[in-house]
Amino acid sequence: AVGGGDELRHVEDMADLPSGAGKSSRVKGVILGESLASEEDDLVFPSRDFSQQALVSSLQQYQEMYKRSIDDPAGFWSEIASEFHWKKKWDSEVYSENIDVSKGTVMIEWFKGATTNVCYNAVDRNIEAGNGGKIAMYWEGNEPGQDGQLTYAQLLDKVCQLANYLKHVGVSKGDAVVIYLPMLMELPIAMLACARIGAIHSVVFAGFSAESLAQRIIDCKPKVVITCNAVRRGAKPIFLKEIVDNALVECSKNGVSVGLCLTYENQLAMTRKDTKWQDGRDVWWQDVVPNFPTTCEVEWVDAEDPLFLLYTSGSTGKPKGVLHTTGGYMIYTATTFKYAFDYKPSDIYWCTADCGWITGHSYVTYGPLLNGATVVVFEGAPNYPDSGRCWDIVDKYKVTIFYTAPTLIRSLMRDGNEYVTRYSRKSLRILGSVGEPINPSAWRWFFNVVGDSQCPISDTWWQTETGGFMITPLPGAWPQKPGSATFPFFGVQPVIVDEKGKEIEGECSGYLCIKKSWPGAFRTLYGDHDRYETTYFKPFPGYYFTGDGCSRDKDGYHWLTGRVDDVINVSGHRIGTAEIESALVSHPLCAEAAVVGVEHEVKGQGIYAFVTLVEGVPYSEELRKSLVLAVRNQIGAFAAPDKIHWAPGLPKTRSGKIMRRILRKIASKQLNELGDTSTLADPSVVDQLIALSDC
Ligand code: WT7
Repeated sequence: AVGGGDELRHVEDMADLPSGAGKSSRVKGVILGESLASEEDDLVFPSRDFSQQALVSSLQQYQEMYKRSIDDPAGFWSEIASEFHWKKKWDSEVYSENIDVSKGTVMIEWFKGATTNVCYNAVDRNIEAGNGGKIAMYWEGNEPGQDGQLTYAQLLDKVCQLANYLKHVGVSKGDAVVIYLPMLMELPIAMLACARIGAIHSVVFAGFSAESLAQRIIDCKPKVVITCNAVRRGAKPIFLKEIVDNALVECSKNGVSVGLCLTYENQLAMTRKDTKWQDGRDVWWQDVVPNFPTTCEVEWVDAEDPLFLLYTSGSTGKPKGVLHTTGGYMIYTATTFKYAFDYKPSDIYWCTADCGWITGHSYVTYGPLLNGATVVVFEGAPNYPDSGRCWDIVDKYKVTIFYTAPTLIRSLMRDGNEYVTRYSRKSLRILGSVGEPINPSAWRWFFNVVGDSQCPISDTWWQTETGGFMITPLPGAWPQKPGSATFPFFGVQPVIVDEKGKEIEGECSGYLCIKKSWPGAFRTLYGDHDRYETTYFKPFPGYYFTGDGCSRDKDGYHWLTGRVDDVINVSGHRIGTAEIESALVSHPLCAEAAVVGVEHEVKGQGIYAFVTLVEGVPYSEELRKSLVLAVRNQIGAFAAPDKIHWAPGLPKTRSGKIMRRILRKIASKQLNELGDTSTLADPSVVDQLIALSDC
């Protein structure tokens, strides 16, 4: 009943690529109305002043650097790597790889044999360069007026104290630590402390439910879970520690016990005395960590030792533990950050992502700090107390680079320009977008209104798996086209293939794959190298398969068109349809469920669930709510279905496979495009579904 099983099957069953070019789909959900025909001819040039001061000033300069990165990856990347600190240099080979499954096990290694430490490079190295007094992080709390800051020297002290504590309680190199924290400075501090001692952090987004947290803890078996008692999101308190308590009960039922729950007392949200406590297991961060020394020796690790695990959604119900290693990830996040945001030491950088997602790993924590940047860490909600909050923060900290997701842009756009124009925003010089295709009207609003038509937009396409940007503008180097991620980053060779895996040249659309490895690539799925090969390297042998559709226009610009597998992207948050289905069928009255993504004005994609109830159970509003609640409880609020569509039956082939193509068409009300339904075991279910469309 539940979707899932072998992920490979989804390659045959991929969502149909829009015919002709994906461009018709990228402008779906148009808000202001716009002419589509001219879209790809619409060039937005950086100003001459901007280009002149940029790290890469022209297309030609990019082309020369890009060519070198492809012709001589070893030379290109080792030159960049030499700017970082290595305790010991790499072996003679800078990298080695096999991404062709037909030639044996897939493996990717960069800088093998070298030893280094990411925390050392992100913190100590900046202090040694004389920047100990520079602000590493500004922290802005949920309520305006709650704030804090840390210089690089202060950050190092905090990181070392926690690192010492973790060592003291027995965490050592290679051990996992799960971090379940909101956007307090303690979150990046905890990540860096793990990196310092060679422990593998696995941050779980604090919007995930107890069940999802438990699932991740059971998979990676951490020695310690780090959390806080509570957090306020907007006006509402969320009791994170209770969620952890529940998760740990679930874990012990599954034979995984965690001996220590280090809990930060977030006094702004909740006091200690109200927090439920388990003596022996729970320890207040503030009671222990500050007692440890502010210096802590670095654990030098191999470039290929794991840095972190981050769980992400795939086509099946079980989240995948994406594993990133040390050396390549470090060099890649640092370099992509530097070029895609044309980073200058005077910049104040703010990325609105949460560290619970890859964007917060690579572009709140590692990429910026490795460049010695000043980062704004924001704990609150972008529309609290009102929709002007982001621009208030931009003015307060004089933010120069602002990086966010299309979903936020669209929702602020809907709230009206007054919230933006009320603030100066004159510090801004570069804007960034990530997480899903940005529709041209949102792009234009971001450019015209937020950036006063002065700031280039870096629309960065990448994935949890890629570690860093893959296709992205270099803001001073070439004109942008609203909605296009433009060209590949150095060392990245994107190709578009057809269903048979044949590369297509020139103007075309198809499946996006990558040829060859790049330093930031993930190395495996934790504990499941088979699934790594099956999901990413078997669909199109010889390539890494991204799961995305893409078209390339006559000028070579890339236009991402969204996922072509059973993964949906809701407000830039990735979730597998099978995970939602499995949460729905866990409800005692749900017999079967099928979930598809459907266009959503603000979220990009909304979650549309077809639900078949147990025989004889009547439809009701109450039941609808309890089904939605089941998903919130099992996964998290962000995965709650936008629509439950009652389904007496689901359209299946004679072999029992659900035809999602038909469900997608019904969900998006494209009833005249249902296609051939004659292969269905019972074609009449389609009419029943249509009849129930508005119930
Ligand atoms: C999927 C990866 C990587 C950061 C956050 C999401 C979609 C991401 C873009 C973009 C079009 C984008 C893709 C991709 N995506 N950025 N600029 N334009 N699509 O990471 O959760 O691993 O999701 O997000 O579909 O495959 P993720």
